[in-house]
Amino acid sequence: MSVRYLLGSWVLILLFCHGSTYLPVVMWHGMGDSCCNPSSLGYIKKLIENEHNGTYVYSIMIGSSVISDTESGFFKNVNDQIDETCRKIKADPLLADGYHAVGFSQGGLFIRGLAQRCPDPPMKNLVSIGGPQQGVFGVPPCPAEGSKLCEYFRKILHTAAYASWIQNTLVQAEFWHDSIDIEDYKRGSVFLADINQENAINESYRSNLQQLEKLVMVMFLQDIIIIPKESAWFGFYAPGQDQKLQTLQESSLYQEDRLGLKIMDRAGRLQFHAVDGQHLHFTDKWFLDTIVGPYFN
Ligand SMILES: *[C@@H]1O[C@H](CO)[C@@H](O)[C@H](O)[C@H]1NC(C)=O
Ligand SMILES: *[C@@H]1O[C@H](CO)[C@@H](O)[C@H](O)[C@H]1NC(C)=O
Repeated sequence: MSVRYLLGSWVLILLFCHGSTYLPVVMWHGMGDSCCNPSSLGYIKKLIENEHNGTYVYSIMIGSSVISDTESGFFKNVNDQIDETCRKIKADPLLADGYHAVGFSQGGLFIRGLAQRCPDPPMKNLVSIGGPQQGVFGVPPCPAEGSKLCEYFRKILHTAAYASWIQNTLVQAEFWHDSIDIEDYKRGSVFLADINQENAINESYRSNLQQLEKLVMVMFLQDIIIIPKESAWFGFYAPGQDQKLQTLQESSLYQEDRLGLKIMDRAGRLQFHAVDGQHLHFTDKWFLDTIVGPYFN
């Protein structure tokens, strides 16, 4: 065996080993779900780990138990949830070199908030799966068997979403986007209006978001949970009414480029995917081929 051959195979082995180290993935669950449910995020975590040879996957848990985590999805101020998550991520040595992020449903919006407010360690690719990036203006139908709590939520959101006690206790009110009374939304929303820079520009939000290599957004074409479904791509009702939709590119957020999305779009760093299904209905194969393969390397 020649020295040259030996050297050559060492280089190959080094390249191979290097190539097999994938960046960790951080996940943020949706409403009513938790970090660790074996049939939802626990399952997705295994999918990614298996596909990427044991890559570290960190599923965000708010509080210190699955119960507090699930409750926080409804009742803990999102700003505090992001602060807490930022502290946990900074304290995790396995995330110190950066990570990819994926959020499901409202978690897709919260994790963008995290990207804007928590630049270190850096997030590389951010994937929002059915995330209401422009908020919601409408409540999904309550289950047929009827639930008092569901009816109560609907009523509160339509009548008093921006009352300060609601803003501080009901998560879904914090991304309620009243497109008819825009001023009310801008004044009252403690989370969405802030991260979408509706009242003032925080330069660090823009520069932090620019650290992303790609911002990937998935819309479900039969979605009746996120209203309007186009919010998953930053689309929303044009201001002043609730019928006519506007795309991201037509919005003031983009035109004024308050988040640098125009720059990212022109550089091909915004990626839009559609799934012809209901909210969060996708197959393992779709997830592996469309998300894990292209974005989690
Ligand atoms: C997968 O990980 C194991 C343990 O860390 C390692 O021995 C193996 O070489 C890796 N395989 C690939 C294909 O990266
Ligand atoms: C901008 O956002 C950062 C991160 O959340 C925050 O620390 C800072 O206070 C904000 N600046 C202004 C002017 O609001």
